[in-house]
Formats: sequence, structure tokens, C-alpha cells
Amino acid sequence: MAETVAMASGMDSGLRDLWYMPALAKSLARGAMRREMLLGEPVVLGRLKTGELFALRDICPHRGVPLSAGKIKADGSVECPYHGWRFRKDGVCSLIPALTGHEPLEAEKIRVRAYPVREQDGLIWVYMAAKPGEAPKSEPPRVGTDAPMRWRETQTFRCGIDHAVIGLMDPVHAAFVHDHWWWKRTPRLKEKHYAPLPTGFVMTRHKPSKPAYSILGDVTTEITFELPSTRFEILEGRLLGKPFKLVGLTVCTPRDADNTDIIQVFYWPAWLNFLYPVFWAVGRTFIADDRKIVELQREGLRFNPNLMLIQDSDQPAIWYHRVKKAWAESVENGTVFVNPVQERVLRWKS
Ligand code: FES
Ligand SMILES: [Fe+2]
Repeated sequence: MAETVAMASGMDSGLRDLWYMPALAKSLARGAMRREMLLGEPVVLGRLKTGELFALRDICPHRGVPLSAGKIKADGSVECPYHGWRFRKDGVCSLIPALTGHEPLEAEKIRVRAYPVREQDGLIWVYMAAKPGEAPKSEPPRVGTDAPMRWRETQTFRCGIDHAVIGLMDPVHAAFVHDHWWWKRTPRLKEKHYAPLPTGFVMTRHKPSKPAYSILGDVTTEITFELPSTRFEILEGRLLGKPFKLVGLTVCTPRDADNTDIIQVFYWPAWLNFLYPVFWAVGRTFIADDRKIVELQREGLRFNPNLMLIQDSDQPAIWYHRVKKAWAESVENGTVFVNPVQERVLRWKS
């Protein structure tokens, strides 16, 4: 079965009513703010002196100047650099300095869009509601370990979110794209069991076949994918008789139609710190390989060709498109989302 799909090289308007992860918590100091593009929208993401986060549309409703170019004031508001209008973290305008106090205008009636924001597991999540001002219908995913974040890497891919996501879940590109002597091995038949998750699917727990994993002793892994672009790899095992859990999280954060950040973080307990050199040697290289193939792919995509998704090796990508479509329809029509993924074994050679 070959499926031809319309893969928007653009972003349509992006999937809504979901959490996106634009930044790591550490990257935003108290009293700092900056512009973060999300789904083509400018968002000013900032942290008050109290440590609280805020996320507002980065366009002053008065005359369009980016609020991110202004100041965070002692009262916890953001001051626009043009005429000094101030906005609270809930988006309400708290001060218009030019008013004398005798005008009929109430500043509080003016608002800038505020986005729900969460900080957890060392990550910052921003909720992109379908309707501005609507409360989140879910909470962002949890990493599910007490271990601190040990590794982080961000690279910008010059593509829309779809190609970033399906590149990430593609099980057969490794032999060609990550063609390093220390990673290479002869292709073998793979057989993996998949099951649906609330907004995605999981390659259920199994023993990884890559010899590279043997550094972790007796280990099993589970790889999940959920909307909009969240991939967890959860390794569990026993090394020298001691049980451990190592969690990797990769997200594709759509900045705009042509730029997607790949943000990868890993969590592991202190006694696994001997892994650092491995990550230093391998982590960046792997993401850079994927980034370069996407650059190359642009050379073809600019002619807007029809593309193919074929057989089991492309089934995760087919599921991604189906789940995404079902989600978009459920948001659009206000209906309950039904996951179209069915439990299945997929077979391919890699
Ligand atoms: S443009 Fe922001 S206060 Fe005038
Ligand atoms: Fe890859």
C-alpha cells in the first residue's frame, strides 16, 4: 500500500488546543523576556522577578511594537517601549501613562492575548488554544522521573513541523543518514509491536537490537509519540544489579512554516553519569545528520512534488498524519477526538 499524502511544506495554522515546548526553564532568568515564535505567532515569553512565567502576544495592541523590546517593571507588568503602556501577565492593560484620569477610556478593557504557560521537569510549555483566552483542556506531558536533566541539545531544522516529525519517527533512515562506522550494522528484519495512546501511539517495551545499547547492560525500551510532536524514549534496565530509568524527550517546536526547532533532553540518575562522554560524542552528531538531510530535502520540496508513504516502514508517518487530521477535525467541530490508530505489528528491514 502506497499512500500519497498532502504534506504541507507550510504550516496550515498549526494544531491547536495543545502544549508546545519553546524553551528550557534554565534559559530564562528572573527579569528576562524574549520573543519566541510559535506556530508563526510572536510570543513574548518572560519571567517576573518573583520567578513566575508569563507568555503574551508580542505585539503591543496600541501600535504594534514588540513588548519583548520593553521592560519588566517592579509591579510585575511589562512596559511597552513606545508609549509605556503596561500589561499584566494575564494580558490586561494596567496603565496608559498618557491618560490624565479624566477620559472615559478604561485601560483595563484593553488586553493583549495571554497564553497559558507551565514550568515542569526543567521545561517551559505554552498552550496554543484554538480560541484566544480559552483555558487549557489538558496539562503538558510529564517526564516521569525524579532524575534531573543531564543533557540538552537544540537545533533548528529548516522545514515545517511535518517533515521534522516524520523524520524523527522514520525507522529506516538510520543506515543511510547516520552512516557512521561506529553505528553501522548489517540491516536485519525488525518486528515491532505498536499500540494506540491517547493522542498518538507507542512502540511497546522491547529489547533494543542496536549493540550501542549494551553499554546499559540488561535494558528494555519503549518509544512513544503524542501530538503535537512529543517523543519519549523510556529506557529501563539493570546495570551491575542496580535498576535504573533513563528518559529521553524530543520535541519538534514549530516556529513558523519553514523553521522547526528540535529540542532533545535526557534525564538519568547521578550514578549513570559515565554516559556524558557518549552523549558528547554522539548526541549532537545525530541531530545534525537529521538536520542536514532536511536541508537537502528542501531542494526537492521547493518544486512541490507529490510524495509517498509506503508500507510498514512508513506506517508511523501515516499514523501521524491520520492522528493529526482527526485532532484538527475534533478541534474544528468541537467533537470528541477518536484516535484512528489500531494495535499492530510492523515489519521492516533496517
Ligand atoms: S505602541 Fe505600545 S504603547 Fe504605544
Ligand atoms: Fe535520525
